[in-house]
Amino acid sequence: MKFSSSAGLDRIRQTSKRPVGAVPSGDSVDLSMGEPDFAAPTAVVEAMCSAVKEGYSHYGDLSGDPELRGEIARQATLRSSREVEPAQVSIGHGATGVLASLVLALVGPGDRVVIPEPTYSLYSDLVEMVGGQVVWTPLRSDLQLDVPAILSAARGAKLLILCNPGNPTGAVFPEEDLRAIGNGLQGSETVVVSDEAYSAFTYGADFTSAVSIPELSERVVVVDTLSKTFALTGYRLGWSIAPPEIAAAISQTGRTIAGAPNAAVQRAAIAVLRQGRDLYSNMQAEYSRRREFVITLLSEIQGVTFEAPQGAFYAFFKHGVSATSDEVRLHLVNSGVLLRSGSEYGATGEGYLRMSFAASLDEIAKGIDRIAVGLDQLRSDSSTYSN
Ligand SMILES: Cc1ncc(COP(=O)(O)O)c(C=O)c1O
Repeated sequence: MKFSSSAGLDRIRQTSKRPVGAVPSGDSVDLSMGEPDFAAPTAVVEAMCSAVKEGYSHYGDLSGDPELRGEIARQATLRSSREVEPAQVSIGHGATGVLASLVLALVGPGDRVVIPEPTYSLYSDLVEMVGGQVVWTPLRSDLQLDVPAILSAARGAKLLILCNPGNPTGAVFPEEDLRAIGNGLQGSETVVVSDEAYSAFTYGADFTSAVSIPELSERVVVVDTLSKTFALTGYRLGWSIAPPEIAAAISQTGRTIAGAPNAAVQRAAIAVLRQGRDLYSNMQAEYSRRREFVITLLSEIQGVTFEAPQGAFYAFFKHGVSATSDEVRLHLVNSGVLLRSGSEYGATGEGYLRMSFAASLDEIAKGIDRIAVGLDQLRSDSSTYSN
């Protein structure tokens, strides 16, 4: 039988830069993934086992476990300048599921969606899938938001999608910029999405959740997940907090795609969120140590330049070689280290590579050593620099 794909899938296939997954060869150092290298905290495993033993094996509430939504709302109220109601919380299959639900709920064919880049590549794939029009706005050279350019692009746009802290950039956006965006959008119908999957991991920079910005309150959807904060990528549990009408729309598309969220995982999530920082403070300390190490070692490589990451667990650096990011990435695979090419995250990412420091200090040291050797080979092959 001849299979003919949907127009949505065709568009993703034509435009997507998302890799289908590299297969690391035996001895290669894999610094390519956004996968925390910590085991699930024991208390989480116990909460999950208890939920299974207590019989959470049936369909749950289609809009998500009411107690979980209540806990998320309670914590958001503490962080924000206003009362957040459980009705504003939508639960989904990871941040990925929530983002898919919200794009499906809000974006139709031809709708404009502003995406500052370089950024997480899922956003544009989702917009392409539903036939929306991606409007890229480059970040400034310091990887911060170009607020005037964003506001100008956002005229008449349906959505603006921010990733804060940034994947791949590690940038944390200051409160003033979020407020300026809120002010600039007054009177418009543009919804602002703030994906805050990495907000637990910042290094000295003040992180302000968009949920606490009064100027954004009528239009902001904050997306979060257990994945990075608690090293629970396999639990597939994410959520959004939105104004009630938008939350109802996100929950409706969510349950249309996937039905009720996983009952047992949601029970474990309640325990996880109640314990909060106690479960990830060790990871914060470890990422912070690794970040210092990465900054020291990367700074020693000739031709490499970068902004010190303020958040997340990635170093996003200019390789300084006159070849495309993808050519450099491929060369480095042969040198025994796996990274991601900056161009995967948008046109402005050309010239950059992303390395994850969700790996041991030994792996990081070995990986950066190989990066240095590989870049050196490329430089002596071409004998040219492009800084
Ligand atoms: C910025 C960002 N948002 C969302 C996700 C996906 O999160 P989840 O595992 O909850 O689907 C990732 C994963 O890498 C990410 O980097």
